[in-house]
Amino acid sequence: MQIITLGNDLLRQKAEKVEKIDAEIIELAKKMFETLESEQGLGLAGPQIGVNKRIFVTHIQNDDPRVFINPSIIETSAETAKCEEGCLSIPGVYASVVRPEAIKLQAWNEKGKPFTIEAEGLVARVILHEYDHLEGVLFLEHLPQDKREKLIEKYEKGEVTRKKDKRQE
Ligand code: NI
Repeated sequence: MQIITLGNDLLRQKAEKVEKIDAEIIELAKKMFETLESEQGLGLAGPQIGVNKRIFVTHIQNDDPRVFINPSIIETSAETAKCEEGCLSIPGVYASVVRPEAIKLQAWNEKGKPFTIEAEGLVARVILHEYDHLEGVLFLEHLPQDKREKLIEKYEKGEVTRKKDKRQE
């Protein structure tokens, strides 16, 4: 599946609830994982492949691959962490983003089973990044305006390069 990039309005929409977790969703999740692996990403959300639904997948280092459908954030820690992030939809752009260090989130998996996950560090960060995609929010929006504008300008001029060793989401 092709990943849509900055400038496409589909990235700015609030995604719609998945009404039924069926074979179509299983197939979608499978394709999303294939895309994630081929792009060597950490996470991928529906809107990034033009599917305006509340679904994202993650595969983070040693963590199991996970599917999140209709997720809701139950809790975020007051403690925050700052870490460099990138996004498959803004390839080559990296910036340090402040996010909660830990989260608690509820969602359904591709089998239609509800689950709750408590995560911290990189796993929490990727989940929050993907959750933002469902709200039409890109990671650059967490940056001060001047910094964001500078990065977008560089991106639009083609002055950015995707780093091989840096994974994006
Ligand atoms: Ni992203």
